Amino acid sequence: MRIGVPLERPNQPLVAATPDTVRKLIKLGYEVCVEVGAGAKASFPDSHYEDAQAQLVDHEQVWKADVVLSLDAPSTRDLDVMREGATLIARLAPARHPELLDDLAQRKITALAMDTVPRISRAQAMDVLSSQANVAGNRAIIEAAHDFGRLFTGQVTAAGKMPPARVYVIGAGVAGLAAIGAASAMGAEVYASDVRPEVAEQVESMGARFVPLPGRTEVSKDGYARALTAEEAAAANALYAEQAAQADIVVTTANVPGRKSPILLDEAAIAAMKPGSVIVDMAAANGGNTTETKPGEKYVTPNGVLINGPLDLAGQLPAQSSQLYAQNIVNLLKLMTPQKNGDLVLDLDDEIVRGITVTTDGGILWPPPPVQVSAAPVQAPAETQDAPEEQNTGSKRLWWMGLAAVVLGALVMVTPTQAISHYMVLALAIIVGFYVITNVTHSLHTPLMSVTNAISGIILVGAILQIGSDNIWVTILSFIAIVVASINIFGGFRVTARMLSMFQKA
Ligand code: NAI
Repeated sequence: MRIGVPLERPNQPLVAATPDTVRKLIKLGYEVCVEVGAGAKASFPDSHYEDAQAQLVDHEQVWKADVVLSLDAPSTRDLDVMREGATLIARLAPARHPELLDDLAQRKITALAMDTVPRISRAQAMDVLSSQANVAGNRAIIEAAHDFGRLFTGQVTAAGKMPPARVYVIGAGVAGLAAIGAASAMGAEVYASDVRPEVAEQVESMGARFVPLPGRTEVSKDGYARALTAEEAAAANALYAEQAAQADIVVTTANVPGRKSPILLDEAAIAAMKPGSVIVDMAAANGGNTTETKPGEKYVTPNGVLINGPLDLAGQLPAQSSQLYAQNIVNLLKLMTPQKNGDLVLDLDDEIVRGITVTTDGGILWPPPPVQVSAAPVQAPAETQDAPEEQNTGSKRLWWMGLAAVVLGALVMVTPTQAISHYMVLALAIIVGFYVITNVTHSLHTPLMSVTNAISGIILVGAILQIGSDNIWVTILSFIAIVVASINIFGGFRVTARMLSMFQKA
């Protein structure tokens, strides 16, 4: 099949395929044609597409392809050029544009909406909303730093002490976490709140302090927030106002799918903020998270707070955003081209494919059936008194304990009396080791492994000293101990070296 990559409309600097992803599409068996100048605004010149074996063609040729990769919904003029049965892959916002779906269905175009990829782990590599929100969250901090009259990082200099900027992020989804990461990396003191208490750990892992909403313990079932009741919103907004008054930079990203953005800061809350502070309202395109946001504009309030309502933050980094968007599409096409023969297969039994297919064969398939996802940590099963599985586990454990007692008894019988006291040391070592290891958090298992390497070293020395014994059993046991301890030592060093190399800059 032939894939077409058009030059987007003048206000869209991104491109849906880069020279790098063109190569990957060709590897999947597709022919790729790119409109002249398609990648120019994202710093991908035509010559690079030619080097990647793409054909450079005109506008009409691109829209006549079997599969067209685009950023947003095409114009009617472009749709007129598309062939019946062709496939369009773009961000189509189907919930907001039912008329577009009717049009696509009538034209018998198979339309795949990249902005409706379900939020499940398997689909993360194709999730354009997340990849773009990540770039946008980073850029929001750069915008804020540009407008803020001081440095982000704190310093003690000969000229005096500079405190770090205090950044407050409201809404810790993809964009919020990216903003937190960028602000922390620039040395700011970062605080964040979200209605979903389960994000606290992620917030803290990005270097910020989580400011919980009073009384909120409800964990979301699908990774998205639900709209708050008027009472809940009032309590939350009081906290946001209190935090914003102490902050230098506020980044708002609150979003509830299918709804206008919730208001987090009102006129009074903004009036209480410090002069010179900056708000970047990432939800501006969807109505904004403050009552004072002017979408697409920057302005300063009478008390000196600059409010920025950017509409296309990802578009300000076109090379990066294009590369991520284009890679998301490659990941989708890998899924949809199982034979790697350039044939696109529409498997509607696959929940990702079903989730993004909004029209096919003249029919409208939007909305898709709900996909069961959960962002909540897996709950331990409720304890019941006579759960058969638990009884089963209990009796198995007894059985093993009995067996261990019998083996131990047999060993004691055949062991010389002067060596029996060693069993006590062994038993205590097993008990202490079990409790120490099971109580160490997973993130500390690598350092723990280094310690077990040291223990293996002691075993190795002991076994080498014993291997020349006259007793054949001692020799055999020493040999086994040397092999096992060596595997542990050398394997441990190898794993540690691999992990350390992950943190080394290329
Ligand atoms: P997301 O759904 O991953 O995150 C939104 C977060 O807001 C969630 O964690 C949610 O729990 C939280 N939230 C919802 N209501 C809240 C409330 N009342 N108080 C506190 N937190 C609340 O969405 P994502 O992808 O991070 O995008 C965030 C926003 O940024 C969206 O509005 C999106 O449209 C916008 N965006 C803007 C861009 C631009 O160029 N201006 C580019 C990309 C995203």
